[in-house]
Amino acid sequence: MTAPPLDDQPTDQRTADAFASSWNRVGTVYTREQFDEWFRPLDPGEFEKQEVLELGFGNGSLLYHMATCSPARLVGVELGDTLEQTRANLAAVAEKTQLELQQGDLLTVDLGRFDLVYCIGVLHHLDDPSAGFDAVLRHTAPGQRFHCWVYAREGNLVVRSIVEPIRRVACRLPWWFTKYGLALPLVFPYFLYAKALSKLSKGTGGLSRLAKSLPLYEYSLWIARRRFAFFHHVAFDQLVTPQTTFLSQAQVLKWLRDSRVDPATTYLIFRNGNSWKFGGRRRAD
Ligand SMILES: C[S@@+](CC[C@H](N)C(=O)[O-])C[C@H]1O[C@@H](n2cnc3c(N)ncnc32)[C@H](O)[C@@H]1O
Repeated sequence: MTAPPLDDQPTDQRTADAFASSWNRVGTVYTREQFDEWFRPLDPGEFEKQEVLELGFGNGSLLYHMATCSPARLVGVELGDTLEQTRANLAAVAEKTQLELQQGDLLTVDLGRFDLVYCIGVLHHLDDPSAGFDAVLRHTAPGQRFHCWVYAREGNLVVRSIVEPIRRVACRLPWWFTKYGLALPLVFPYFLYAKALSKLSKGTGGLSRLAKSLPLYEYSLWIARRRFAFFHHVAFDQLVTPQTTFLSQAQVLKWLRDSRVDPATTYLIFRNGNSWKFGGRRRAD
């Protein structure tokens, strides 16, 4: 049987294939500092001896740091064909934990119940983000934790009006053209902008006030700490995917009001002025 034409494949599969073209060409991309910040308010010290699941692990860049937190068991599922690269990326830490990776669709797999389920940078790329959040809760054991991060609708006007129209075209082009012909030249002016904002923010009075009033201020300070290669990776990631939804605070609050979630345990943090970090515990019953 021949494979269906590209456009006939489900959107999530096309998204996963597009990401695989990115993930299979890089090693782990996050620093330990980024990992810690991504999980705050959770304390990585509490992951020790826990059963942990990542939904949509990309190339294992978060699993790498999670493995060093000594969980009892670390499981990951990813729709893209990235298992080989991920195993190579995790080789140095694989002995520190019981690591179980599989290729599959987070919407349909049943991997059991976990003490911590995390889903970072994935829900906003799904055709149906709410179904993705349901999978997060479905895998969280009663009384245990979930933690997610998504692009916000709020604070992303520039990205939604400038990057999004380019992405809609770029995601149909060969990956190498998107990476080197579009992401590379387009991210260079943003790299200079972020570095300039970072310098301005350290100035006094008027200069730092000016910096704060400019678009993507907080996000730019966050990414300005990294080298150009990370900017390029992020830009390629943004342009290569066929599906991105910018999720509003109202939508995330609706998810957190799910009857399976214990309302006393929830948190919602506006991260870097343009994304939502949120989580809580499943009810104990
Ligand atoms: C932006 S990446 C984030 C990867 C990783 N969580 C990280 O932060 O480095 C989104 C990932 O979700 C995966 N993905 C998309 N739809 C999926 C699905 N239905 N099931 C499992 N993984 C999926 C993509 O293939 C991609 O690797």
